[in-house]
Amino acid sequence: MTTILGLSGSLRRASFNAGLLRAAVEVAPEGVTIAPGSIRDVPLYDADLEAAEGLPPAVRTLQRQLREADGLLLVTPEYNNGIPGVFKNAIDWMSRGPGLKAFVGKPVALLGASPGGFGTVLAQNGWLPVLRTLRTRPWLEGRMLVSRAGSHFDADGDLTDEETRKALTEFVAGFAESITA
Ligand code: FNR
Repeated sequence: MTTILGLSGSLRRASFNAGLLRAAVEVAPEGVTIAPGSIRDVPLYDADLEAAEGLPPAVRTLQRQLREADGLLLVTPEYNNGIPGVFKNAIDWMSRGPGLKAFVGKPVALLGASPGGFGTVLAQNGWLPVLRTLRTRPWLEGRMLVSRAGSHFDADGDLTDEETRKALTEFVAGFAESITA
């Protein structure tokens, strides 16, 4: 069994990116589980808080989930042509203390959805130096950019577009194969 930790970088109730992650969970091939984690309870990074209290419980949970996973799926929104701060904040916390070790050599795939025409391409590019610094193994053979998301998801953020679901199925299968190869 291959386990992939899936993280969405949006806290919005009807988030396209959270919906894309739910769809990824559904289309995962047999023998592959995408387990969604949550960045919701991760506080803003504060070195004083870390020094006084150590790693917050939500961060420790995410670190454990990453340690136990064979791969990491980052479903990223794009803000101002870059990585949303809330998402980067969570990964920064996760890289602290014993957490860094879990990133090293970890296969990571990036995907994302946006209502605009470029489907998070710049946010995905923005993650690359972060993934390099964390010494992960980014999977770059597949690409999943969902543009015009407003017409691909319903009002609850559930993926409704069949072509996108098919592309997602291939993307997830390709990533999972690369992990087991
Ligand atoms: C955005 N949005 C956006 N979209 C995009 O494709 N490129 C961008 O540079 C930006 N910039 C941006 C900045 C800020 C501050 C916000 C709040 C939003 C729009 C964004 O893609 C849209 O809000 C998505 O719906 C966010 O993803 P979720 O929440 O649907 O997953």
